[in-house]
Amino acid sequence: MTKQLLSPQAARRHRPTEQQLIPGPQISPAGSAIEVDDLWKVYGPNPKSALKEYRDGATYVPGHMTAVRGVSFDVRPCETFVVMGLSGSGKSTLIRCLTRLIEPTAGRVKIDGNHVLTLSDAELSQQRRRDWAMVFQHFGLLPHRRVLQNVAYGLEISRVPRREREERAHRMIELVGLSGTEQKYPSELSGGMRQRVGLARALVQNPRLLLLDEPFSALDPLIRADLQDELLRLARGGSQTSVFITHDLTEALKVGDRIAIMRDGVLVQLGTPEDIVLNPADDYVRRFAVEAPRSKVVRAATIAQAVPELPAELPIEAALAAFAQNGSGSALVRPDARAPFLITAQDLFQLNEPRRVLGSLEIRTSNVKGDELLAGVMQELIRSGRPVLVESPAGDHLGAIDNATAVRALSVPGST
Ligand SMILES: Nc1ncnc2c1ncn2[C@@H]1O[C@H](COP(=O)(O)OP(=O)(O)O)[C@@H](O)[C@H]1O
Ligand SMILES: [Mg+2]
Repeated sequence: MTKQLLSPQAARRHRPTEQQLIPGPQISPAGSAIEVDDLWKVYGPNPKSALKEYRDGATYVPGHMTAVRGVSFDVRPCETFVVMGLSGSGKSTLIRCLTRLIEPTAGRVKIDGNHVLTLSDAELSQQRRRDWAMVFQHFGLLPHRRVLQNVAYGLEISRVPRREREERAHRMIELVGLSGTEQKYPSELSGGMRQRVGLARALVQNPRLLLLDEPFSALDPLIRADLQDELLRLARGGSQTSVFITHDLTEALKVGDRIAIMRDGVLVQLGTPEDIVLNPADDYVRRFAVEAPRSKVVRAATIAQAVPELPAELPIEAALAAFAQNGSGSALVRPDARAPFLITAQDLFQLNEPRRVLGSLEIRTSNVKGDELLAGVMQELIRSGRPVLVESPAGDHLGAIDNATAVRALSVPGST
């Protein structure tokens, strides 16, 4: 592993969030969009008494199945929060418990600050109509209605006047790339197009919360990738919070701001894509993590190595002595009138001018942003043939990355 990882907190500080990049309307930017606290779901004839036994340590209560076991997490406003796990790990039960499509056995759920488990039926159905939208794996379109009416359906239920709802539906159909299909029936569309209709139908109401349960799992890989891109684009432009369920790590890494990993009803790890890939909490997560395309997950700020700084007026011979003493591969020089650059011991050997001062060297160093992916950093390493400097959005130097650091970050620990 790399020697001097920036702490995860430091890496996060330097990684601009979606919210910093794209200011969107947020009602409570400081609070949580969803708060889940010690949530349980036991299926079976006597869930409450079975729950007591589970809480007392039983692993199996005959006739009962604990699909969600004491799960707690917060989802931030405007975040795309992914829940990932193998089939049967409790993902669908969990997401349905959030809006009480399934009644939880115990625990607390708050959405936008309101306790969901104490809402009346009328309040619940109002929220489902107005503020929450759901997209499922099997599209659930109305077969005898055309695309336009399918997309406008929720607005119709909410009694939005016909003209307005059709206008909004048209706009949303255009946004998901389905212009021209308004008058078709679902049976005339491919699976990918049907799921676009499903997305449009969910988004047309401009919901505050979008829940997606393996929405793309039934689609071919290329179409799935297209729809992931589409969703990311819509998520960046919109102001809704999304909870996205998948069993596919690549999908989770691509769409998730943060990922919660479930196993047998338990939340085993919650973190950014980088946290999951670089620091898997256990063997279960590690089995997913080894499959991850690391160059598309790891960010420059996370692997940047601290470099010593040497004074611009220092002669090369003194700089070589400093290299020898502290054993580092490169050092930062900040000449008065030019951009800072990195020198390596190799540069200095080649020059063979012991009295020349560092600040007079004509060396150019490429800068990469802290949130740049490793894949982009590697392109720059290859192009420039030199180590690169990593900088924060404010332009502060976070450290350096050379070939050896990049290769170490690419390799999976324990695989060699
Ligand atoms: N209505 C139900 N009655 C009994 N067991 C159920 C029911 N729904 C789901 N389960 C069980 O709960 C566990 C979690 O299921 P589910 O939430 O569908 O997981 P996932 O979505 O991760 O595949 C599974 O073992 C499943 O068989
Ligand atoms: Mg499921």
